[in-house]
Order: sequence, then C-alpha cells, then structure tokens
Amino acid sequence: MDIQKIIAKKRDRQELSKEEIEYFITNYTNGNIPDYQAAALTMAIYLNGMTEEETTNLTLTMAHSGDILDLSEFGTVVDKHSTGGIGDKVTLILAPIIASLGIPVAKMSGRGLGYTGGTIDKLEAIPGYRTNIKIEEFKENVGKIGISLMGQTLNLAPADKKLYALRDTIAATESIPLISSSIMSKKIAAGANKIVLDVTCGSGAFMKDLNQAIQLAKTMKKIGELAQKETVCVVTSMEEPLGKAVGNALEVIEAIQALKGNMTEDVQEVVLTLGAYMMKLADKGKDIEGNKEKMLEQIQSGEALKKLKELIQIQGGDVSYVENIELLPKAKYVMPVLATKCGYVKTLDAKSIGEISMHLGAGRMKKEDSIDPAVGIVLEKKIGDYVKENEILAYVHTNNEEKGQEAVKQLLDCYQIVEEKVEKRSCILKVI
Ligand code: URA
Repeated sequence: MDIQKIIAKKRDRQELSKEEIEYFITNYTNGNIPDYQAAALTMAIYLNGMTEEETTNLTLTMAHSGDILDLSEFGTVVDKHSTGGIGDKVTLILAPIIASLGIPVAKMSGRGLGYTGGTIDKLEAIPGYRTNIKIEEFKENVGKIGISLMGQTLNLAPADKKLYALRDTIAATESIPLISSSIMSKKIAAGANKIVLDVTCGSGAFMKDLNQAIQLAKTMKKIGELAQKETVCVVTSMEEPLGKAVGNALEVIEAIQALKGNMTEDVQEVVLTLGAYMMKLADKGKDIEGNKEKMLEQIQSGEALKKLKELIQIQGGDVSYVENIELLPKAKYVMPVLATKCGYVKTLDAKSIGEISMHLGAGRMKKEDSIDPAVGIVLEKKIGDYVKENEILAYVHTNNEEKGQEAVKQLLDCYQIVEEKVEKRSCILKVI
C-alpha cells in the first residue's frame, strides 16, 4: 500500500477502505509515516469528511493501536469525556462526587487542545500530582480509593496521542470524524463499560451550532453501540465559558470551592446532569432528578471533597493546597476589566476568552510550549447579568504586565452589553 495514493484518494473525496485506514494508523503510530504525510491526510479528512463506516473503522483501528485496558475487576465502570470547552472544570468536580457514591472512576484525561483547556493541565497545577502514572498504579488506585485520573499513557490509543497533537498544530480540530474517533478510541481503549459524553456547542466549542453538535453526538453514540458500550450524550452550551474561572490553577480553585458547596448555577447544571446519567448507567438510580439530589448530598456532607483529597494524596499531590487554596500558584498581577457602560451582558465570546487565556500562558501556542498554571481570567459578570458603568466585569491574572494590559483591552471587546434585559439560558441543550 502507498500513503500518497491514500492521501490522493481522500483529497479527491473518495471513500477509504478499512485496510487503507489500518495502513495509515499502524504506520503513523510506529513512525513509518512522517508527520507531513499524516498532516496532509488529516487535513483531507478535515476538509472532505468521512462516511459512517470510515469513521467507525478509524475509531476501532485507533483504539487497537495500543493496549485495551481490562477494568472488569471493578464491575460497571462509567467513563465521562467532554468534546472540549473554555472554563470546563467539570471532571474535577464530577469525578470525586461519583467516586464518593461508590461508582468506580478510572479516567484517562487530555491536555488542552487549541483554545480549549484540558483536565491534565489543570491537575498539574497542584504541586506533586502525578498524571503520568503507569497502568498498574492507575488500577491499584481505583481498587484502593475508587478513583484515579491520569494522562494518556503511551500504550493506550497511541495513535490518538500522536494525531491529537498533530491536529492541534495544523488547525484540524473542528471535525466530526476526527473528534469522534479521538474520543471514542480513547474510551474504548480505557476499558469502561459505559460512557457519558458532554458534547459542547457554541463559540467556545469545536461544534459551533446545535445541528453539528447533535450530529457529533449521534456519531459517537453509534460507535459506542457498535463497541457494545452504552453511551449517553448530553449536548451543553459553550456560548460563554463555563463558570467563572478560565486557566489552570484558577479552575482548580473554582472546583475546590464547588466541592465545598459554592458552585455557580451553570457549572452545577452541567455537573449534576452528566453525573445523574452516569449514576443511571451504573444502575445507581433511574430517577435523574433523584440522582441529582444524591449528588448534592455528597457535596453537603463533605464526602465528595474528601474523595478529591484522597485522589490528590494517592497520586503524590500536596493536599494542603486543597485545604488552603491560597497556596496554589498565583499570578504577579491581577488586573480588573471595567465596564464602560451600564446594561445587560448579551454575549460573552467563549472562543476569544479561550484564546486570550492561551496567550496569557494558560494554554499552548506550540506543541512544546510549557504552561503557566497561575495565569488566566476570572469572569465576574456573565450573560444575563446587569452591570453598572465602571463595575468590574472580569479580572486578568498575569505574570507579564504588558500581556495583561493587552488582555484587559481584548476582554472588554468580548462583552456585548445592551440596554434590554437578557434572560439567562439553560446550559443543557439536549440529551441523546
Ligand atoms: N477531546 C478529545 O479527546 N479529542 C478531540 O478531538 C476533542 C476533544
């Protein structure tokens, strides 16, 4: 087989066979196909799409590009994954709640992709927390305390690890076949029996409109069914960032506060809805509203926060940072963004906020960039809020004064303020 012919076929909008997809994935994973040819084929897929059969073949081949984890010793394991967003600290809150209910959480999370953040970068804001543990330790932790959160290891879906990093550098992230295969290959390799997916939709998500998000959700649900993994997709709004904080340590602080009972309405809605379906799939309650109540009880009783501390401790992190959030990395400058007029916030462009945060150092512009855990943005006003002139809309946390001043100006442009009252909308758009 010849990679140039495969690239040409996809360039010319033809369907790739199972064998051609297998040839590409196997040889790219083992280094026989260089990045430039993989980039050409990936971009051709991005531009010309894939049929359902091609997407399924791509997913299954990527899933089998490394080991498949066997988690059967833990009974029913329900995994959760998001298609990416801005200010998305859901896993940090949801995973300990679910584990505290006795449902095993064995989750492989990702790093930031494009303008979106990643749970692993956030966890690494906690000094000492080891994200690159071995599979044996991952399983041991789940066995001991019912939860482990780790980064993508080399031997689980290695094809995705390479393609994910490649897509990030060639502007090929917003694609239904590429996102579906990336997420579902990881979920299949990670060994969960059932899956709940947060399919984000809006300016700060890879899917910009509801129809696209529904199509992505249906594609992933179908792949889940084919792999015999019951899958529920919750389509959520990412028109504005989720919650208040965008940036790694800032989001960890927001997550800890949420587990102490101080959660913004939008974060609570997303966390409880995803969690209620995870509980349902784990046979821990059929009634979605009842499940949400049970989750809230785990927060009120302190059990969920206790589980987060156990997780941090077992993976080498310093628990004193949870007990005293003041210890977490702090930026040198905190600059307020002031409203220039009064009125209601109509739009708050999530994608631009993700990009501003990335430029401050909270995300990577290049694959090899390191992340500054302390920097980011805290939003004091969100869509539907009323603001007075000169009132604080947001804060920029930065270690570079010049970059911070630039970010303040740009953030002001992200806020559209109007005279007419603006209603707050629900974040849950659809459950599939
Ligand atoms: N999350 C993933 O794991 N992969 C994608 O392609 C997008 C979000």
